[in-house]
Amino acid sequence: MNKDKYALDLERAIFNWYYGGDNAAPESVFNAVANGLNNDMQMIVQIELSEAILQAIGDPEKAKVGDTFSLKEGLPIKFRHIAADEDGHYFIPLFTSQEEMNKGGAYSSINQSLKSLFEAVDNWPDCVGYIINPWDRKLFLRKNYIKMLLAYKPKSHISFVKGSVIDMHVDAIVNAANSSLLGGGGVDGAIHMAAGPELLKECRKLNGCNTGEAKITGSYNIKHADHIIHTVGPVYSGKKEDAELLAACYTNSLDLALENGCNSIAFPGISTGVYGYPIQEAATVSLLAAAKWLDAHPDTVMNIYFCCYRDDEMAAYMAFLRK
Ligand code: APR
Repeated sequence: MNKDKYALDLERAIFNWYYGGDNAAPESVFNAVANGLNNDMQMIVQIELSEAILQAIGDPEKAKVGDTFSLKEGLPIKFRHIAADEDGHYFIPLFTSQEEMNKGGAYSSINQSLKSLFEAVDNWPDCVGYIINPWDRKLFLRKNYIKMLLAYKPKSHISFVKGSVIDMHVDAIVNAANSSLLGGGGVDGAIHMAAGPELLKECRKLNGCNTGEAKITGSYNIKHADHIIHTVGPVYSGKKEDAELLAACYTNSLDLALENGCNSIAFPGISTGVYGYPIQEAATVSLLAAAKWLDAHPDTVMNIYFCCYRDDEMAAYMAFLRK
């Protein structure tokens, strides 16, 4: 799946934005677009095959899927249009990957940098903007949004999502493990179930993990993530060091994510299940730890998702934010 890393990040951020429902914050998507603009993100654009292009291809009988051909400079290329209204206004569809494009059937296409597409959009008076991945979880980018995004400075963002950490499309999913790292119940059991037996095989080589620390593995059958970061939360005892150890789980997981080139990470509520950490206290500790880490990494753009599996987890974060 030879996706452009930034296009993959954008595809994932759009998925999580839809997964988060109507109140989901769009900043993670803006970050992914802006990061892509700054890193020459390539998008797939569908083109109408004109006579001139067909000549460039040569004998269409011989052309086969996957052939590449160079288009002479200045060759008129017409992008595919999707009607925006009855007055001739249209959107241009863009795709983050072949898989997204193929959801609407095969079509001739070329790669173009998102930045050049954004900068060219004013050349077409009847074009109202772009639709990214129009056949599924789509993102409309009208001209006013494009102007905003060209000037947008990406900054790390924390989102609260009601749902399972395993459903998140991120670079790293965090597991609330135990010190053996050999699986268990709760989210640990769910992640091992989803990732498959290869995960346990890799975990066996890690020689366990101390409370407050974190170790990283592959994600195996969880295809919409690249890594799993296993961290061991404290069993709640009411002592002062509980908060220090819990905060260390978040800090060490974020450090590992950064060291492994991740731009997005999803946390469950570490220690708030079997390990008995009171959810309101845990929400405060985890949020402060993440905010402190972001302060210490001002030049990093990390999309952080706190996944609330239970309603009381989401309520605890919202209560903290309203303080
Ligand atoms: N996605 C997101 N969160 C989940 C999921 C899921 N699929 N399943 C459970 N949770 C939430 C729970 O609602 C809880 O708030 O994860 C939080 C952590 O609960 P546990 O999984 O019990 O983890 P923890 O409290 O840290 O205890 C760790 O439990 O499963 C064992 O092997 C694990 O021994 C370790 C201990």
